[in-house]
Amino acid sequence: MDKTFLISMLVTFVTSNDVLKFEPKNPADLHLDGSLPSGVTGQWNKPKFCKKLDCPEYQVVSSTEDYEERIYSTSNWVSTNLTGLDYNTAQYTMFMKLFKYISGANEKKIKIDMTVPVTNRIIPGQGPACESDFIMSFFISSSVAEAPKPSSDDVYLNTKDEMHVFVGQFGGYAMTYDTWRKQAQKLGAALDKAGLSYEQDFYYTAGYDSPYTLFNRHNEVWFFKK
Ligand SMILES: *[C@@H]1O[C@H](CO)[C@@H](O)[C@H](O)[C@H]1NC(C)=O
Repeated sequence: MDKTFLISMLVTFVTSNDVLKFEPKNPADLHLDGSLPSGVTGQWNKPKFCKKLDCPEYQVVSSTEDYEERIYSTSNWVSTNLTGLDYNTAQYTMFMKLFKYISGANEKKIKIDMTVPVTNRIIPGQGPACESDFIMSFFISSSVAEAPKPSSDDVYLNTKDEMHVFVGQFGGYAMTYDTWRKQAQKLGAALDKAGLSYEQDFYYTAGYDSPYTLFNRHNEVWFFKK
């Protein structure tokens, strides 16, 4: 077998297992004071599911088969709110508003690179004919020194303080409200079983792939720790 091929395989293996998958096993390893764990370089190693796009930095506090507990560092986002009955119409409307912002509908008329995840904060309606409250957000990469002001009044910049979340992860296409709702219920049940306390009024969905990505799709639901 080709020697170069073997070496590159080995390098990939070592990199992906030892560095990319660094997950602190206990809170003492978190280094929340900003110091770096031994063996880790100053650069954040983003998870594989972000693929080539920038995504917000977090530390894993613990993980089980059913959920992962993460602490996200303070991060910047651009968001838009919508209250509506129809999930798909709401999604499309909000996505287009944010997409226009990164495509140049901003004070400096600049393009900003797409990032992941696209999050959606959902406060479910109280019944089948009740409207739900949605807030869709795009992450603003830390490589953007100063995000320009949005041109549209419905689009706003915001900074999210450290977020402590319980995350449920799944693959495939998540295009319907029902898919997300079922995943949120599943995660909620796992957290209840573990006796963990979390905000119940809302949850987040986090999508990492465009509809054109066919394989290795990644989706998440988040509950905020109480
Ligand atoms: C968006 O919704 C949030 C949460 O309901 C609210 O606090 C905020 O004021 C809203 N922002 C805008 C611009 O409507």
